[in-house]
Amino acid sequence: MRELLSIVLRRDGYEVLVAADGKAAVEILKRERLDVLITDIRMPEMTGVDVLREAKTIDPGIISIIMTAFATTDTAVDALRLGAADYVHKSPNAVNDLRLRVGKELERKRLLQENVLLKRQLGTPNKFSNIVGSSSAMMSVFELIETIAPTGSTVLITGESGTGKELVARAIHARSARSDRPFVAVNCGALPDTLLESELFGHMRGAFTGADTNKKGLLEVAEKGTIFLDEIGEMSAMTQVKLLRVLQERKFRRLGGTEEVEANIRIIAATNRDLSKMVAAGDFREDLFYRINVIPVKLPPLRERQDDVQALAEHFVEKYAAQMKKELHGISGAAMTLLRSYPWPGNVRELENAIERAVALERTPSVLSDSLPDGVRAASASPASAAAAAPPEDLTLSGGFDLEQHVQDIEREYIMEALRRSHGVKKNAAELLGLSFRQFRYLLKKYNIQ
Ligand SMILES: Nc1ncnc2c1ncn2[C@@H]1O[C@H](COP(=O)(O)OP(=O)(O)O)[C@@H](O)[C@H]1O
Ligand SMILES: [Mg+2]
Repeated sequence: MRELLSIVLRRDGYEVLVAADGKAAVEILKRERLDVLITDIRMPEMTGVDVLREAKTIDPGIISIIMTAFATTDTAVDALRLGAADYVHKSPNAVNDLRLRVGKELERKRLLQENVLLKRQLGTPNKFSNIVGSSSAMMSVFELIETIAPTGSTVLITGESGTGKELVARAIHARSARSDRPFVAVNCGALPDTLLESELFGHMRGAFTGADTNKKGLLEVAEKGTIFLDEIGEMSAMTQVKLLRVLQERKFRRLGGTEEVEANIRIIAATNRDLSKMVAAGDFREDLFYRINVIPVKLPPLRERQDDVQALAEHFVEKYAAQMKKELHGISGAAMTLLRSYPWPGNVRELENAIERAVALERTPSVLSDSLPDGVRAASASPASAAAAAPPEDLTLSGGFDLEQHVQDIEREYIMEALRRSHGVKKNAAELLGLSFRQFRYLLKKYNIQ
């Protein structure tokens, strides 16, 4: 059989090395770089399964095909478990079966390698093509991403709303060994407790009213990939306990389920809150905090990297001009001055929205000040923060000034403005203000804003 196979495979154009037994095969494996191993199972001294095990430790990528003469497939199953690509029965058809399998497996391996190469090439020209920034703060963020991405460690990304936390999380995933597996984002602040838990852990039929089928949780959907827990500071105490268990034991149960499910998953969490303060106040579990704060990544607010505003603004003009198919190039000097002097409380997200709107409105070939939002244009006349914070001129003992009322007026103004800028989409308005959806909803009720 060995002789026959070597003749046939050579005729197909392969280079073939033959070994009379397992020991000789292992010697060859140690010496040569081989694509495929074909081995019998029953052999003197070393069984085919032993050879396979050795081969896989020497080269985990080797394609192995096992030949078996016996009706029982037990050992063949063992072999498959050890990573053999397939097994072939010794039958009159064996030689042809083998030729087919070898061809197929090699083709598959070639495609895989091509894919890896392609991805590598795509990755090189600009390492962070979708994250714009050349400020020193962002440069050190880039460096940190490159260092931690391959480690698989848990990462906690902090920063105000709109600073690019999700973008960074995706970049970390894309540069990790898990990049060909799913990246699943969950907003912990957007869902009520039980819904969040059933989203994360899945549920069994009948676990609660309305659970009329079994459902996989996102932890299972993201198997071998990355799960992004956004706004983790909003997670309830009960869900925190369950998440802690996932981090400690890498296992969880579906709601209403008894079976333990393995969680092979990388966790990246993000928050715009100060978690250490929340821990001190008893609003966030300390043990969970330490488990997720393994590698902290801090994104600075845009006002602390004003140098990036120009490049970001230009990037967004290009993006939206292309999207809206408009012949628009660049931003006028005056408009850029306005953009650079505005403090961007909603950070990059607010800048992106402002540019999107400007590109839509603009009728000339470049973005002019007129197309920028009122807030941005007003900023240069009277720096926004100073305007709101300055006490009125007529502050006197008898003036009947009501600080609380004054602060509430300002708060209300900001809420209305955020709603206006986000076209009434509450979730986005909340983000602009750096509030969780819950906090925002509370304020809407407080001020009776419909
Ligand atoms: N450095 C950056 N370069 C390009 N786009 C950015 C950058 N930072 C943020 N953005 C964009 O701003 C928006 C908000 O970013 P996101 O990651 O959702 O922020 P966060 O999660 O911190 O609220 C997204 O559309 C994102 O693509
Ligand atoms: Mg976000």
